Amino acid sequence: MRNEVVFITGANGEIGHGLLEYFGQRDDVFIVALDIRELDPELEKYCSRFIQGDILDRNLLDRLVTEYEIRTIYHLASVLSTRAEYNPEGAHRINVEGSLNLLRLAVQQAEWQGRSIKFIYPSSIAVYGLPDLDTKMRSGKIKEYEWLTPRTMYGCNKLYCEHLGRYYASHYRQLGADENIHKIDFRCIRLPGLISAQTIPAGGTSDYGPEMLHQAAQSLAYDCFVRGDTMLPFMAMSDAVKALIDLWSSPRENLKKLIYNVTSFSLTAQEISEIVARSFPNARITFTPDERRQKIVDSWPGELDDRAARDDWGWSPEYDLKRAFEDYLIPTITKRYQQVV
Ligand code: SER
Repeated sequence: MRNEVVFITGANGEIGHGLLEYFGQRDDVFIVALDIRELDPELEKYCSRFIQGDILDRNLLDRLVTEYEIRTIYHLASVLSTRAEYNPEGAHRINVEGSLNLLRLAVQQAEWQGRSIKFIYPSSIAVYGLPDLDTKMRSGKIKEYEWLTPRTMYGCNKLYCEHLGRYYASHYRQLGADENIHKIDFRCIRLPGLISAQTIPAGGTSDYGPEMLHQAAQSLAYDCFVRGDTMLPFMAMSDAVKALIDLWSSPRENLKKLIYNVTSFSLTAQEISEIVARSFPNARITFTPDERRQKIVDSWPGELDDRAARDDWGWSPEYDLKRAFEDYLIPTITKRYQQVV
């Protein structure tokens, strides 16, 4: 008898932390987690098994078939937007070939089990590419089908993987003899910038939001790499986890789309700095925009339209701007660094 499990890649990353903590509270879900790095010891208790390994290692993924019945794959592993620009081909390998390996694993599992496998994929605002700041300011809330001309390798990779997910969900082996092949139940959300109280992001371009906050909480200076008037949509990490869980547990027949925007609040870098300065009087925040990273955030939407997610699967964030900072981020971060000191 093989064990039924949820398989999570990129488990040691920011979203992985939140997701493992969530599933760790449930006794009906067994987690097998994978990450290229060691797992944070705090998270070990939530996993039935942790494998330190590479999503590009197909032998490793093939071996899972003999041991586990994977019912759901959360494919979180990815190289973020800034880091990907320093090694675009390497990022492509991890972001695209890695995702293809996971889709292949899902197909193998579906064949063995005779039923479709849920494949939950976090995509990003980076799939959008508005041509200039003026267009961004005029465009308001961006819908799923608008401005899909990404400027970064990461954005291109995420957009293409969305297409791969759609292909595996709807057209996989469409000319093969077996029409009843079990397709993948692909479910994707496009996330805004994420802010976590527990972890600090690495290699993203929306990182100035969380960096400002974490630096100020440690009484460290922060030089923000975008202009103060830069507006992006953001979300508290716990809401990103909520979205990934809500989408996972939603009945398939309710989902009219494969890919959904989700968002919570939009604000400028200046507004973030003011909230941070009010909460941490020792904060020292300056702005020295990096022209090239600025162009990336200027091509991302200032606001997302998440009406479809709200209508189809009842998406609603728990934390609006005020609650996110006052009830979750500021108190949790304060406690975190008090413990460290
Ligand atoms: N947070 C991501 C990044 O900055 C965008 O999804 O790369």
